[in-house]
Amino acid sequence: MMSFPKNFLWGGATAANQLEGAYDVDGRGPSIDDIAPGGKDRMKIIKSPDFDWQPNPKYTYPNHEGIDFYHHHKEDIALFAEMGFKAYRFSISWSRIFPRGDEEQPNEKGLTFYQNVIDECLKYNIEPVITISHYELPLYLAEHYGGWKNKQLIGFFKHYADTVIDRFGDQVKYWLTFNEINSAASFPFSSQGMIAKTGADDKRNVFQAWHNQFVGSAYAVKAAHEKNPDSQVGNMIVYATNYAYDANPVNQLAALKFDQEFNYYTTDVQVRGEYPAYSESLYKQYGFTGSDLDRTPEELALLKKYHVDFLSFSYYMSSVTEVTGKVSEKTAGNILGGLKNPFLKESEWGWQIDPVGLRVGLNRLYDRYQVPLFIVENGLGAADTVEPDGKINDDYRIDYLKSHVEAIQGAIDDGVPVMGYTPWGCIDLVSLSTGEMSKRYGFIYVDMDDQGRGTLARSKKKSFYWYKQVIASNGADL
Ligand code: BG6
Repeated sequence: MMSFPKNFLWGGATAANQLEGAYDVDGRGPSIDDIAPGGKDRMKIIKSPDFDWQPNPKYTYPNHEGIDFYHHHKEDIALFAEMGFKAYRFSISWSRIFPRGDEEQPNEKGLTFYQNVIDECLKYNIEPVITISHYELPLYLAEHYGGWKNKQLIGFFKHYADTVIDRFGDQVKYWLTFNEINSAASFPFSSQGMIAKTGADDKRNVFQAWHNQFVGSAYAVKAAHEKNPDSQVGNMIVYATNYAYDANPVNQLAALKFDQEFNYYTTDVQVRGEYPAYSESLYKQYGFTGSDLDRTPEELALLKKYHVDFLSFSYYMSSVTEVTGKVSEKTAGNILGGLKNPFLKESEWGWQIDPVGLRVGLNRLYDRYQVPLFIVENGLGAADTVEPDGKINDDYRIDYLKSHVEAIQGAIDDGVPVMGYTPWGCIDLVSLSTGEMSKRYGFIYVDMDDQGRGTLARSKKKSFYWYKQVIASNGADL
Protein backbone atom coordinates (compact mmCIF):
# COMPACT_ATOMS: atom_id res chain seq x y z
CA MET A 1 0.00 0.00 0.00
CA MET A 2 1.36 3.45 -0.93
CA SER A 3 1.14 6.14 1.70
CA PHE A 4 -0.58 9.46 1.24
CA PRO A 5 1.84 12.03 -0.21
CA LYS A 6 3.83 13.95 2.41
CA ASN A 7 2.30 17.28 1.42
CA PHE A 8 -1.28 15.93 1.13
CA LEU A 9 -3.75 18.73 1.84
CA TRP A 10 -5.94 17.38 4.63
CA GLY A 11 -8.50 19.92 5.71
CA GLY A 12 -12.09 21.00 5.44
CA ALA A 13 -14.36 23.10 3.24
CA THR A 14 -17.08 25.72 3.69
CA ALA A 15 -18.71 28.49 1.67
CA ALA A 16 -19.37 32.10 2.64
CA ASN A 17 -23.11 32.05 2.00
CA GLN A 18 -23.67 29.05 4.25
CA LEU A 19 -21.65 30.07 7.29
CA GLU A 20 -20.63 33.71 7.46
CA GLY A 21 -23.98 35.30 8.31
CA ALA A 22 -23.58 39.09 8.77
CA TYR A 23 -25.34 39.36 5.44
CA ASP A 24 -25.83 43.12 5.64
CA VAL A 25 -22.85 44.07 7.81
CA ASP A 26 -19.90 46.33 6.88
CA GLY A 27 -21.21 47.25 3.46
CA ARG A 28 -21.99 43.77 2.11
CA GLY A 29 -24.62 43.81 -0.65
CA PRO A 30 -27.30 41.14 -1.10
CA SER A 31 -26.46 37.98 -3.06
CA ILE A 32 -28.80 35.61 -4.85
CA ASP A 33 -28.48 33.16 -2.01
CA ASP A 34 -29.90 35.69 0.45
CA ILE A 35 -33.31 35.17 -1.13
CA ALA A 36 -33.15 31.35 -1.03
CA PRO A 37 -35.83 30.31 1.48
CA GLY A 38 -35.08 27.87 4.30
CA GLY A 39 -36.76 24.46 4.31
CA LYS A 40 -37.04 21.22 2.39
CA ASP A 41 -38.92 22.83 -0.51
CA ARG A 42 -36.22 25.40 -1.14
CA MET A 43 -35.22 24.13 -4.58
CA LYS A 44 -38.79 23.48 -5.68
CA ILE A 45 -39.73 27.06 -4.76
CA ILE A 46 -36.73 28.51 -6.60
CA LYS A 47 -37.43 26.43 -9.72
CA SER A 48 -41.09 27.46 -9.91
CA PRO A 49 -42.06 29.75 -12.83
CA ASP A 50 -43.22 32.62 -10.60
CA PHE A 51 -40.14 32.75 -8.35
CA ASP A 52 -38.71 36.25 -8.31
CA TRP A 53 -35.73 38.09 -6.85
CA GLN A 54 -37.69 39.46 -3.90
CA PRO A 55 -37.61 38.17 -0.32
CA ASN A 56 -40.98 36.84 0.74
CA PRO A 57 -42.28 37.29 4.33
CA LYS A 58 -43.74 33.77 4.08
CA TYR A 59 -40.25 32.29 4.33
CA THR A 60 -37.26 32.32 6.64
CA TYR A 61 -33.73 33.01 5.39
CA PRO A 62 -31.25 31.04 7.52
CA ASN A 63 -28.23 32.13 5.46
CA HIS A 64 -28.63 35.66 6.77
CA GLU A 65 -27.26 34.57 10.11
CA GLY A 66 -25.47 31.37 9.04
CA ILE A 67 -23.31 30.31 11.97
CA ASP A 68 -21.95 33.85 12.22
CA PHE A 69 -18.45 32.85 11.14
CA TYR A 70 -18.02 36.54 10.39
CA HIS A 71 -17.67 37.16 14.11
CA HIS A 72 -16.39 33.70 15.16
CA HIS A 73 -13.70 33.02 12.56
CA LYS A 74 -10.77 33.18 14.99
CA GLU A 75 -12.33 30.62 17.29
CA ASP A 76 -13.31 28.39 14.36
CA ILE A 77 -9.93 28.47 12.63
CA ALA A 78 -8.27 27.68 15.98
CA LEU A 79 -10.42 24.54 16.12
CA PHE A 80 -9.42 23.62 12.55
CA ALA A 81 -5.80 24.06 13.60
CA GLU A 82 -6.38 21.83 16.61
CA MET A 83 -7.50 19.08 14.21
CA GLY A 84 -4.24 19.62 12.33
CA PHE A 85 -5.72 21.06 9.11
CA LYS A 86 -3.17 21.62 6.38
CA ALA A 87 -5.71 23.43 4.21
CA TYR A 88 -8.96 25.29 4.64
CA ARG A 89 -11.19 25.77 1.62
CA PHE A 90 -13.53 28.74 1.92
CA SER A 91 -15.14 31.16 -0.51
CA ILE A 92 -15.14 34.90 -0.82
CA SER A 93 -18.54 36.51 -0.90
CA TRP A 94 -18.47 38.56 -4.11
CA SER A 95 -21.05 41.04 -2.77
CA ARG A 96 -18.91 41.69 0.31
CA ILE A 97 -16.22 43.01 -2.04
CA PHE A 98 -18.47 44.55 -4.71
CA PRO A 99 -21.92 45.02 -3.13
CA ARG A 100 -23.72 45.42 -6.46
CA GLY A 101 -21.11 43.67 -8.58
CA ASP A 102 -20.56 46.37 -11.18
CA GLU A 103 -18.69 48.98 -9.11
CA GLU A 104 -15.20 50.17 -9.84
CA GLN A 105 -14.02 50.49 -6.21
CA PRO A 106 -14.06 47.50 -3.84
CA ASN A 107 -15.47 47.61 -0.34
CA GLU A 108 -12.37 47.80 1.88
CA LYS A 109 -14.16 46.37 4.90
CA GLY A 110 -14.94 43.23 2.94
CA LEU A 111 -11.32 42.85 1.88
CA THR A 112 -10.19 43.39 5.47
CA PHE A 113 -12.40 40.55 6.66
CA TYR A 114 -10.83 38.07 4.23
CA GLN A 115 -7.37 39.40 5.01
CA ASN A 116 -8.07 38.51 8.65
CA VAL A 117 -9.28 35.03 7.73
CA ILE A 118 -6.19 34.41 5.60
CA ASP A 119 -3.84 35.74 8.31
CA GLU A 120 -5.51 33.53 10.85
CA CYS A 121 -5.03 30.45 8.64
CA LEU A 122 -1.40 31.25 7.92
CA LYS A 123 -0.73 31.73 11.62
CA TYR A 124 -1.37 27.98 11.95
CA ASN A 125 0.31 27.01 8.65
CA ILE A 126 -3.04 26.24 7.11
CA GLU A 127 -3.06 26.80 3.33
CA PRO A 128 -6.07 28.85 2.27
CA VAL A 129 -7.85 27.30 -0.72
CA ILE A 130 -10.16 30.00 -2.01
CA THR A 131 -13.25 29.55 -4.15
CA ILE A 132 -13.75 32.84 -5.97
CA SER A 133 -17.42 32.25 -6.74
CA HIS A 134 -19.43 29.79 -4.68
CA TYR A 135 -23.14 30.01 -5.52
CA GLU A 136 -23.69 33.63 -4.58
CA LEU A 137 -23.67 36.08 -7.42
CA PRO A 138 -24.41 39.65 -6.26
CA LEU A 139 -28.21 39.91 -6.50
CA TYR A 140 -27.95 43.11 -8.53
CA LEU A 141 -26.15 41.29 -11.35
CA ALA A 142 -28.90 38.68 -11.46
CA GLU A 143 -31.74 41.19 -11.33
CA HIS A 144 -30.40 43.93 -13.57
CA TYR A 145 -28.13 42.06 -15.96
CA GLY A 146 -29.95 38.71 -16.17
CA GLY A 147 -27.20 36.61 -14.58
CA TRP A 148 -24.33 34.81 -16.31
CA LYS A 149 -25.97 34.57 -19.74
CA ASN A 150 -25.04 38.25 -20.12
CA LYS A 151 -21.51 38.71 -21.42
CA GLN A 152 -21.04 41.86 -19.36
CA LEU A 153 -20.61 39.58 -16.37
CA ILE A 154 -17.25 38.45 -17.72
CA GLY A 155 -15.89 41.95 -17.16
CA PHE A 156 -17.43 42.28 -13.69
CA PHE A 157 -16.07 38.89 -12.66
CA LYS A 158 -12.65 39.69 -14.11
CA HIS A 159 -12.51 42.88 -12.08
CA TYR A 160 -13.59 41.05 -8.91
CA ALA A 161 -11.13 38.16 -9.47
CA ASP A 162 -8.29 40.56 -10.33
CA THR A 163 -9.03 42.52 -7.15
CA VAL A 164 -8.93 39.56 -4.75
CA ILE A 165 -6.02 37.87 -6.51
CA ASP A 166 -4.05 41.08 -6.53
CA ARG A 167 -4.76 41.65 -2.84
CA PHE A 168 -4.22 38.09 -1.58
CA GLY A 169 -2.22 36.35 -4.30
CA ASP A 170 1.10 36.65 -2.48
CA GLN A 171 -0.27 34.70 0.45
CA VAL A 172 -2.71 32.37 -1.27
CA LYS A 173 -1.46 29.64 -3.57
CA TYR A 174 -4.63 27.65 -4.32
CA TRP A 175 -7.66 29.13 -6.08
CA LEU A 176 -10.84 27.56 -7.44
CA THR A 177 -12.82 29.59 -9.95
CA PHE A 178 -16.51 28.52 -9.93
CA ASN A 179 -18.00 26.09 -7.45
CA GLU A 180 -19.70 23.09 -9.12
CA ILE A 181 -19.84 24.88 -12.44
CA ASN A 182 -21.55 21.90 -14.10
CA SER A 183 -24.47 21.99 -11.64
CA ALA A 184 -26.23 24.45 -13.96
CA ALA A 185 -27.14 21.41 -16.05
CA SER A 186 -29.97 20.89 -13.60
CA PHE A 187 -30.02 24.01 -11.39
CA PRO A 188 -28.87 27.25 -13.05
CA PHE A 189 -29.98 29.41 -10.11
CA SER A 190 -27.02 28.85 -7.81
CA SER A 191 -24.12 28.83 -10.22
CA GLN A 192 -25.43 31.09 -13.01
CA GLY A 193 -27.86 33.42 -11.21
CA MET A 194 -30.76 32.62 -13.52
CA ILE A 195 -34.37 31.71 -12.73
CA ALA A 196 -37.30 30.70 -14.93
CA LYS A 197 -38.29 34.35 -15.41
CA THR A 198 -34.81 35.21 -16.71
CA GLY A 199 -34.45 32.25 -19.04
CA ALA A 200 -33.04 29.47 -16.85
CA ASP A 201 -35.16 26.89 -18.66
CA ASP A 202 -33.70 27.72 -22.06
CA LYS A 203 -30.61 25.54 -22.49
CA ARG A 204 -29.02 27.96 -24.90
CA ASN A 205 -28.80 30.47 -22.04
CA VAL A 206 -27.20 27.86 -19.81
CA PHE A 207 -24.57 27.03 -22.42
CA GLN A 208 -23.93 30.72 -23.14
CA ALA A 209 -23.56 31.35 -19.41
CA TRP A 210 -21.07 28.48 -19.19
CA HIS A 211 -19.03 29.96 -21.99
CA ASN A 212 -18.99 33.33 -20.23
CA GLN A 213 -17.88 31.64 -17.02
CA PHE A 214 -15.13 29.71 -18.86
CA VAL A 215 -13.76 33.03 -20.11
CA GLY A 216 -14.00 34.53 -16.60
CA SER A 217 -12.22 31.47 -15.23
CA ALA A 218 -9.43 31.81 -17.83
CA TYR A 219 -8.91 35.44 -16.79
CA ALA A 220 -8.61 34.31 -13.16
CA VAL A 221 -5.99 31.68 -14.12
CA LYS A 222 -4.05 34.40 -15.96
CA ALA A 223 -4.24 36.80 -13.02
CA ALA A 224 -3.18 34.17 -10.46
CA HIS A 225 -0.22 32.95 -12.54
CA GLU A 226 0.96 36.48 -13.22
CA LYS A 227 0.66 37.50 -9.59
CA ASN A 228 2.36 34.44 -8.18
CA PRO A 229 4.06 31.85 -10.40
CA ASP A 230 3.64 29.26 -7.62
CA SER A 231 -0.12 29.59 -7.63
CA GLN A 232 -2.34 26.77 -8.82
CA VAL A 233 -5.86 27.24 -10.04
CA GLY A 234 -8.51 24.54 -10.28
CA ASN A 235 -11.92 24.22 -11.84
CA MET A 236 -14.58 22.69 -9.59
CA ILE A 237 -17.40 20.32 -10.52
CA VAL A 238 -20.02 18.29 -8.74
CA TYR A 239 -18.94 14.80 -9.75
CA ALA A 240 -21.22 11.81 -9.64
CA THR A 241 -19.61 8.61 -10.81
CA ASN A 242 -22.18 7.33 -13.24
CA TYR A 243 -23.03 3.68 -13.93
CA ALA A 244 -25.14 2.16 -16.65
CA TYR A 245 -27.82 0.20 -14.80
CA ASP A 246 -27.00 -3.01 -16.67
CA ALA A 247 -25.14 -4.45 -19.66
CA ASN A 248 -27.86 -3.40 -22.09
CA PRO A 249 -25.88 -1.47 -24.73
CA VAL A 250 -28.63 1.14 -24.88
CA ASN A 251 -28.06 1.94 -21.23
CA GLN A 252 -24.30 1.93 -21.74
CA LEU A 253 -24.61 4.50 -24.51
CA ALA A 254 -26.98 6.63 -22.45
CA ALA A 255 -24.54 6.49 -19.51
CA LEU A 256 -21.74 7.67 -21.78
CA LYS A 257 -23.90 10.56 -23.00
CA PHE A 258 -24.76 11.45 -19.43
CA ASP A 259 -21.06 11.58 -18.56
CA GLN A 260 -20.31 13.80 -21.54
CA GLU A 261 -23.01 16.29 -20.68
CA PHE A 262 -22.88 16.31 -16.91
CA ASN A 263 -19.44 15.19 -15.81
CA TYR A 264 -17.17 16.15 -18.71
CA TYR A 265 -18.42 19.10 -20.79
CA THR A 266 -17.30 21.91 -18.49
CA THR A 267 -14.10 20.12 -17.44
CA ASP A 268 -13.13 19.34 -21.03
CA VAL A 269 -13.11 23.08 -21.71
CA GLN A 270 -11.53 24.19 -18.45
CA VAL A 271 -8.81 21.53 -18.31
CA ARG A 272 -8.10 20.94 -22.01
CA GLY A 273 -8.89 24.48 -23.13
CA GLU A 274 -11.10 23.37 -26.01
CA TYR A 275 -14.69 22.54 -26.68
CA PRO A 276 -15.04 18.76 -27.04
CA ALA A 277 -15.97 17.04 -30.31
CA TYR A 278 -19.39 15.99 -28.99
CA SER A 279 -20.44 19.62 -28.27
CA GLU A 280 -22.46 20.05 -31.43
CA SER A 281 -24.46 16.87 -30.89
CA LEU A 282 -25.20 18.06 -27.38
CA TYR A 283 -26.44 21.46 -28.56
CA LYS A 284 -28.49 19.82 -31.31
CA GLN A 285 -30.39 17.85 -28.75
CA TYR A 286 -31.53 21.19 -27.27
CA GLY A 287 -32.39 22.70 -30.63
CA PHE A 288 -29.49 25.03 -31.33
CA THR A 289 -25.99 24.95 -32.80
CA GLY A 290 -22.60 26.23 -31.71
CA SER A 291 -22.95 29.22 -34.02
CA ASP A 292 -25.93 30.37 -31.93
CA LEU A 293 -23.53 30.91 -29.04
CA ASP A 294 -21.59 34.16 -28.83
CA ARG A 295 -17.97 32.95 -28.69
CA THR A 296 -15.22 35.07 -30.21
CA PRO A 297 -11.91 33.75 -31.58
CA GLU A 298 -10.09 35.85 -28.94
CA GLU A 299 -12.08 34.17 -26.17
CA LEU A 300 -11.38 30.71 -27.59
CA ALA A 301 -7.66 31.52 -27.67
CA LEU A 302 -7.86 32.64 -24.05
CA LEU A 303 -9.49 29.36 -23.01
CA LYS A 304 -6.72 27.43 -24.71
CA LYS A 305 -3.95 29.44 -23.09
CA TYR A 306 -5.28 29.74 -19.56
CA HIS A 307 -6.68 26.31 -18.76
CA VAL A 308 -6.66 25.26 -15.10
CA ASP A 309 -3.78 23.49 -13.35
CA PHE A 310 -5.78 20.89 -11.48
CA LEU A 311 -9.27 19.47 -11.31
CA SER A 312 -11.24 19.71 -8.10
CA PHE A 313 -14.61 18.22 -7.37
CA SER A 314 -17.24 17.44 -4.78
CA TYR A 315 -18.23 13.83 -4.34
CA TYR A 316 -21.22 12.75 -2.30
CA MET A 317 -22.86 10.03 -4.34
CA SER A 318 -22.91 8.13 -7.61
CA SER A 319 -25.69 7.98 -10.19
CA VAL A 320 -27.33 5.38 -12.41
CA THR A 321 -28.51 5.59 -16.02
CA GLU A 322 -31.37 3.45 -17.29
CA VAL A 323 -33.42 4.45 -20.31
CA THR A 324 -35.63 1.47 -21.09
CA GLY A 325 -38.11 2.17 -18.32
CA LYS A 326 -37.12 -0.87 -16.26
CA VAL A 327 -36.28 1.14 -13.16
CA SER A 328 -38.47 3.88 -11.81
CA GLU A 329 -37.58 4.17 -8.14
CA LYS A 330 -35.96 7.53 -7.52
CA THR A 331 -33.36 8.76 -5.10
CA ALA A 332 -32.61 12.23 -3.75
CA GLY A 333 -29.39 14.21 -4.17
CA ASN A 334 -27.85 17.65 -3.85
CA ILE A 335 -28.12 19.01 -7.34
CA LEU A 336 -28.69 15.70 -8.93
CA GLY A 337 -31.26 13.12 -7.95
CA GLY A 338 -31.65 10.03 -10.07
CA LEU A 339 -32.51 6.38 -10.10
CA LYS A 340 -32.05 4.11 -7.16
CA ASN A 341 -29.05 1.81 -7.15
CA PRO A 342 -30.09 -1.43 -5.39
CA PHE A 343 -26.53 -2.06 -4.17
CA LEU A 344 -26.24 1.13 -2.14
CA LYS A 345 -27.47 2.42 1.20
CA GLU A 346 -28.78 5.96 1.59
CA SER A 347 -28.22 8.80 4.02
CA GLU A 348 -31.14 10.13 6.07
CA TRP A 349 -31.63 12.67 3.28
CA GLY A 350 -31.78 9.92 0.67
CA TRP A 351 -28.32 10.42 -0.87
CA GLN A 352 -26.80 7.12 -1.96
CA ILE A 353 -23.53 6.30 -0.23
CA ASP A 354 -20.86 4.89 -2.53
CA PRO A 355 -17.21 5.03 -1.44
CA VAL A 356 -16.12 2.59 -4.15
CA GLY A 357 -17.60 5.05 -6.64
CA LEU A 358 -15.08 7.61 -5.44
CA ARG A 359 -12.20 5.30 -6.35
CA VAL A 360 -13.80 4.58 -9.72
CA GLY A 361 -14.32 8.32 -10.29
CA LEU A 362 -10.76 9.27 -9.37
CA ASN A 363 -9.48 6.69 -11.85
CA ARG A 364 -11.84 7.78 -14.60
CA LEU A 365 -11.03 11.47 -14.16
CA TYR A 366 -7.30 10.91 -14.12
CA ASP A 367 -7.43 8.56 -17.12
CA ARG A 368 -9.20 11.31 -19.04
CA TYR A 369 -7.35 14.44 -17.95
CA GLN A 370 -3.96 13.54 -16.44
CA VAL A 371 -3.95 16.51 -14.08
CA PRO A 372 -3.79 16.36 -10.27
CA LEU A 373 -7.15 15.81 -8.58
CA PHE A 374 -8.40 17.47 -5.42
CA ILE A 375 -11.49 16.25 -3.55
CA VAL A 376 -12.73 19.54 -2.15
CA GLU A 377 -16.08 18.31 -0.79
CA ASN A 378 -17.31 15.01 0.60
CA GLY A 379 -19.26 14.11 3.70
CA LEU A 380 -22.41 12.87 5.33
CA GLY A 381 -25.31 15.20 6.08
CA ALA A 382 -26.92 13.73 9.20
CA ALA A 383 -28.95 14.77 12.23
CA ASP A 384 -26.78 14.72 15.35
CA THR A 385 -27.89 14.20 18.93
CA VAL A 386 -26.27 15.98 21.83
CA GLU A 387 -26.15 13.52 24.74
CA PRO A 388 -26.99 14.70 28.27
CA ASP A 389 -23.23 14.83 29.00
CA GLY A 390 -22.73 17.12 25.99
CA LYS A 391 -21.06 14.45 23.82
CA ILE A 392 -21.96 13.94 20.17
CA ASN A 393 -21.22 10.39 19.14
CA ASP A 394 -21.31 10.62 15.36
CA ASP A 395 -19.95 7.16 14.54
CA TYR A 396 -22.07 7.12 11.36
CA ARG A 397 -20.09 10.13 10.10
CA ILE A 398 -16.78 8.50 11.00
CA ASP A 399 -17.83 5.33 9.12
CA TYR A 400 -18.77 7.35 6.05
CA LEU A 401 -15.55 9.38 6.00
CA LYS A 402 -13.36 6.39 6.81
CA SER A 403 -14.72 4.43 3.87
CA HIS A 404 -14.12 7.39 1.56
CA VAL A 405 -10.56 7.92 2.80
CA GLU A 406 -9.97 4.21 2.14
CA ALA A 407 -11.27 4.73 -1.38
CA ILE A 408 -8.82 7.61 -1.89
CA GLN A 409 -6.06 5.36 -0.60
CA GLY A 410 -7.15 2.79 -3.17
CA ALA A 411 -6.99 5.34 -5.98
CA ILE A 412 -3.53 6.48 -4.85
CA ASP A 413 -2.47 2.83 -4.99
CA ASP A 414 -3.93 2.74 -8.52
CA GLY A 415 -1.51 5.53 -9.44
CA VAL A 416 -3.84 8.53 -9.30
CA PRO A 417 -2.22 11.76 -8.05
CA VAL A 418 -4.58 13.16 -5.40
CA MET A 419 -3.63 16.56 -3.96
CA GLY A 420 -5.89 16.70 -0.97
CA TYR A 421 -9.14 16.04 0.81
CA THR A 422 -11.28 18.77 2.35
CA PRO A 423 -14.54 17.26 3.69
CA TRP A 424 -17.57 19.50 3.36
CA GLY A 425 -18.97 21.56 6.20
CA CYS A 426 -16.08 20.80 8.56
CA ILE A 427 -18.06 22.96 10.95
CA ASP A 428 -21.89 22.67 10.89
CA LEU A 429 -23.47 25.18 8.54
CA VAL A 430 -26.67 25.85 6.62
CA SER A 431 -27.49 23.22 4.00
CA LEU A 432 -27.49 24.36 0.40
CA SER A 433 -30.34 22.21 -0.91
CA THR A 434 -32.70 22.55 2.03
CA GLY A 435 -31.54 25.57 4.02
CA GLU A 436 -31.61 23.44 7.17
CA MET A 437 -29.19 23.54 10.11
CA SER A 438 -30.31 20.08 11.17
CA LYS A 439 -28.55 18.53 8.18
CA ARG A 440 -25.10 18.57 9.71
CA TYR A 441 -21.73 17.65 8.19
CA GLY A 442 -19.32 19.04 10.75
CA PHE A 443 -16.58 17.75 13.00
CA ILE A 444 -17.62 20.77 15.07
CA TYR A 445 -21.19 21.08 16.31
CA VAL A 446 -22.87 24.49 16.28
CA ASP A 447 -25.78 25.09 18.63
CA MET A 448 -28.38 26.44 16.22
CA ASP A 449 -31.63 24.88 15.00
CA ASP A 450 -33.76 25.19 11.87
CA GLN A 451 -35.81 27.97 13.42
CA GLY A 452 -32.69 30.05 14.13
CA ARG A 453 -32.74 29.28 17.87
CA GLY A 454 -29.48 28.52 19.65
CA THR A 455 -26.44 30.00 21.32
CA LEU A 456 -24.08 29.42 18.36
CA ALA A 457 -21.71 27.72 20.82
CA ARG A 458 -19.22 25.36 19.19
CA SER A 459 -18.42 21.86 20.51
CA LYS A 460 -16.29 18.97 19.32
CA LYS A 461 -17.96 15.84 18.02
CA LYS A 462 -16.43 12.36 18.27
CA SER A 463 -15.43 12.73 14.58
CA PHE A 464 -13.29 15.74 15.56
CA TYR A 465 -10.91 13.49 17.47
CA TRP A 466 -11.05 10.83 14.77
CA TYR A 467 -10.12 13.26 12.00
CA LYS A 468 -7.33 14.72 14.12
CA GLN A 469 -5.79 11.25 14.37
CA VAL A 470 -6.23 10.65 10.63
CA ILE A 471 -4.36 13.85 9.81
CA ALA A 472 -1.65 13.28 12.43
CA SER A 473 -0.96 9.83 10.94
CA ASN A 474 -1.21 11.15 7.34
CA GLY A 475 -4.08 8.77 6.64
CA ALA A 476 -2.50 5.67 8.17
CA ASP A 477 -4.61 5.52 11.33
CA LEU A 478 -8.24 5.31 10.35
C1 BG6 B 1 -22.44 20.94 -2.76
C2 BG6 B 1 -22.25 22.42 -2.56
O1 BG6 B 1 -23.37 20.74 -3.76
O2 BG6 B 1 -22.96 20.18 -1.73
C3 BG6 B 1 -22.32 22.91 -1.14
O3 BG6 B 1 -21.07 22.90 -3.16
C4 BG6 B 1 -23.37 22.10 -0.39
O4 BG6 B 1 -22.56 24.29 -1.16
C5 BG6 B 1 -22.96 20.64 -0.38
O5 BG6 B 1 -23.64 22.56 0.90
C6 BG6 B 1 -23.85 19.73 0.42
O6 BG6 B 1 -25.18 19.89 0.03
P1 BG6 B 1 -26.33 20.19 1.08
O7 BG6 B 1 -27.52 20.44 0.25
O8 BG6 B 1 -26.45 18.98 1.91
O9 BG6 B 1 -25.89 21.38 1.84
